[in-house]
Amino acid sequence: MNCFSFLSCKQPHQVDELNEVTSGIQGVNFYSYKELRVATDDFSPVNKIGEGGFGPVYKAKLKNGNMAAIKVLSAKSHQGVREFLTEIQVISDIEHENLVKLYGCCAEGSHRILVYNYLENNSLAHCLLGEGHSSIQFNWGTRRRICTGVARGFAYLHEEVSPHIIHRDIKASNILLDRDLTPKISDFGLAKMIPPEATHVSTRVAGTIGYLAPEYAIRGQVTRKSDVYSYGVLLIEIVTGRSNRNTRLPPEEQFLLERTWQLYEKNELEALIDTSLNGDFDIEEACKFLKIGLLCTQDSLKLRPSMSTVVKMLTGETSINGSNITKPGLISDFMDINNKKPPKTKPDEVNDLYNFISSETENFDSSGLTSGQTTQATMTFTSLYDRSI
Ligand SMILES: Nc1ncnc2c1ncn2[C@@H]1O[C@H](COP(=O)(O)OP(=O)(O)OP(=O)(O)O)[C@@H](O)[C@H]1O
Ligand SMILES: [Mg+2]
Repeated sequence: MNCFSFLSCKQPHQVDELNEVTSGIQGVNFYSYKELRVATDDFSPVNKIGEGGFGPVYKAKLKNGNMAAIKVLSAKSHQGVREFLTEIQVISDIEHENLVKLYGCCAEGSHRILVYNYLENNSLAHCLLGEGHSSIQFNWGTRRRICTGVARGFAYLHEEVSPHIIHRDIKASNILLDRDLTPKISDFGLAKMIPPEATHVSTRVAGTIGYLAPEYAIRGQVTRKSDVYSYGVLLIEIVTGRSNRNTRLPPEEQFLLERTWQLYEKNELEALIDTSLNGDFDIEEACKFLKIGLLCTQDSLKLRPSMSTVVKMLTGETSINGSNITKPGLISDFMDINNKKPPKTKPDEVNDLYNFISSETENFDSSGLTSGQTTQATMTFTSLYDRSI
């Protein structure tokens, strides 16, 4: 069967349209809906791995014997076939050791399905941050490899792919691990698949807000440096083994980034390093990684390093000794969540997200985001731009 054989079961006008569109698309594997149905045993719940903002994800066995993760984009995120395939082509062309490989897609009728390489060890959120049960021990060497690998993947997307790709949703659940615990970044290039009136980051707000750079959260200002901020939060999570927010801790310790800054100021960063390492780690290097996390999350975009510089800092090629670390940008500094009022310094161009957060916090208890509620929500940003800072 050739790549386009699924066209044969379509109406003539649909065949024409798909033929016209796909003839301009090279290097993309097309799967028939039927083939994917067989591969997932009719999208059996047994094969469902999880569900994110885009829709459900299934484990599948393809005809060639390869295991795949099949992401079925929900109806809300549907684009026209042309736009969809244009995005797919961009993602298909990208290959890097630290990026999840897209095998291909299905765009039959109203179906929009992505077929990815299957990663055996699920995500960092699942294995390291305790959302699931995992027997994997993340020793210091493994963590170093994960932090560096993820940074390399982002440096590639930001600086070597042309036009560069901003991820926009960096978080532990988007870092997948293969059999050897090599990290692979997932969901890059997907942001544009979501129409402006729908979601661009659809997620549990309380879980994701901790990764968002303030300028992104407040003004929708998307740049490579907003990705760098999110990477910084992730880096601190990997070293500490803690989620960016933990409601079981005393209030002053719940927000990981704030806590990291507090301990940095007291010269006590060591206290944050994951106790499950049982002291078996390079203290100097672990503290350096935490400082790099702080450098990445500084309020000023210009002060945040580029991802290729982050790689050099992690590997020791560039020293961080001369770097002055300034206070991280914290969303809580931009808005008084408890009073649900914008701060006096609130920028004029505050967008939907501010309204969104304000309206969501109405539902929270008096401790605001510390209520522990998880809220499925939709944010819409209209002003997306990269000033290439
Ligand atoms: N290529 C893959 N291999 C193995 N598991 C995967 C793969 N892609 C996704 N998953 C798993 O499927 C689940 C859902 O992933 P999905 O990306 O849809 O949601 P998410 O990352 O939790 O949230 P978001 O939609 O905001 O990215 C996650 O548990 C993830 O670990
Ligand atoms: Mg994901």
